[in-house]
Amino acid sequence: MSFVRSQQEGPVLTLTLDRPEALNALNAQVLDDLSAELDRVDLHSVRCLIFTGAGEKAFAAGADIAAMADMSPEEAAAFSRRGNQVFRRIETFPLPTIAAVNGYALGGGCELAMACDIRLCSENALFGQPEVTLGITPGFGGTQRLMRLVGMGKAKELIFSARNVKAAEALQMGLVNGVYPADELLPAAEKLAAKIAKNAPVAVRACKAAMNEGVNLPMDQAIDAEVREFSACFETEDQKRGMAGFLNKQRNIRFENK
Ligand code: CAA
Repeated sequence: MSFVRSQQEGPVLTLTLDRPEALNALNAQVLDDLSAELDRVDLHSVRCLIFTGAGEKAFAAGADIAAMADMSPEEAAAFSRRGNQVFRRIETFPLPTIAAVNGYALGGGCELAMACDIRLCSENALFGQPEVTLGITPGFGGTQRLMRLVGMGKAKELIFSARNVKAAEALQMGLVNGVYPADELLPAAEKLAAKIAKNAPVAVRACKAAMNEGVNLPMDQAIDAEVREFSACFETEDQKRGMAGFLNKQRNIRFENK
């Protein structure tokens, strides 16, 4: 039995955390199941991933508190390393990723959403890093990604106070890209994924690689990353077809996944 369901519709693969009885809380098995699903992604046919949660209440209500309660510092380090490893893999995955946040995204749930490239959420979504109320720090990347997304001052306010943020405020601070009524969230994520999937796949991946690499580099080195990715596109069939298509007044080129 897996705690992650996967469903592919054309070029879009949706991975659903499926542990609704525990509000999709992330224990070691959920992390392993997520990792196993990433291993199975067919990079030739899939062009965009969507992450969401089963049930109407939660994307994920965090790391599993029952599983963590009696951990030794060494066990906690291993759990944090594993969660960070899986989420970093999502962040650097060679395909664009969208989090469709359908309710609570607390602690590890917020951290999973932040590991994705783009976040859309439902009107009932609630984001937060409540770890200090449990006597711990965020452990799956929250101390590092929240400040990169919303700025150091806001991230410190939220993490130190453990204040949760509703969808409208998350939108205003740039934590999410869009807010939708609950029943329109997945269709909106699928529509965006399909729009991304229509574009030249190698170019989309190269954009992600350049942006991920450049964000942590001084500007001159970051520009080098862009030059490398830009020039590599000129070895692809997509670049030749895309540009020839424009020059021949041919629009809506269908790009092959090569
Ligand atoms: N871990 C384990 N179980 C959890 C859980 C979690 N993070 N969140 C919810 N559950 C379980 C509850 O224990 C409950 O199980 P039972 O029915 O067996 O009692 C079930 O899910 C439903 O939850 P509630 O009854 O609490 O539902 P609610 O609607 O009353 O409250 C909630 C919802 C406000 C999200 C509340 O469940 C809650 O506060 N959850 C914990 C949120 C949290 O603190 N997350 C951070 C975890 S620490 C972390 O994530 C560290 C890290 O960075 C690695």
